[in-house]
Amino acid sequence: MNNIIQVKNLAKSYNTLHGEIEVLKKINIDVKEGSFTSIVGSSGCGKSTLLNIIASLDKQDDGQIITKGKIKIGYMFQDDALLSYLTVYENAILGLKLSNNLSQENTNYVNHLLKEYGLDNFKNKYPNELSGGMKQKVACILSRQKKDQVNGL
Ligand SMILES: Nc1ncnc2c1ncn2[C@@H]1O[C@H](COP(=O)(O)OP(=O)(O)OP(=O)(O)O)[C@@H](O)[C@H]1O
Ligand SMILES: [Mg+2]
Repeated sequence: MNNIIQVKNLAKSYNTLHGEIEVLKKINIDVKEGSFTSIVGSSGCGKSTLLNIIASLDKQDDGQIITKGKIKIGYMFQDDALLSYLTVYENAILGLKLSNNLSQENTNYVNHLLKEYGLDNFKNKYPNELSGGMKQKVACILSRQKKDQVNGL
């Protein structure tokens, strides 16, 4: 009851040059609304595969992801996925730019987030000048670029 996300009997395999790898098999998870849920497991056990499917970035072979209505999912990738030739600020507004949402309100919000994450003095730096954690913060800002996208995973 009151689940915001339900994973039901999820299965996923990858076809590789060395044959098929079965990564997820009959995975069932209930995520309660308002809860923090951690997916824990050894390297290569399928955590990113599972999250990619929940975020609709990949497709399962079998099973279902059931959400409570139409939810918005914010997802920070394991790799920060920043573009090395853009500054922190340019990376942070990239999503807005590509989706034609570069309004004053939205860029003000990005600036607010950069301040909140302690990156105000790093706006003009390039990713290779940042620590790993700072890069992840920029990636996180990318996924929070609109106020109504704050909720999610
Ligand atoms: N695109 C792909 N093609 C083929 N095999 C893949 C692909 N992506 C992942 N795998 C394989 O699937 C398995 C699960 O990978 P996944 O990235 O989901 O693991 P993980 O639990 O996130 O690991 P880590 O903790 O190291 O991040 C691994 O054996 C990996 O080699
Ligand atoms: Mg992973």
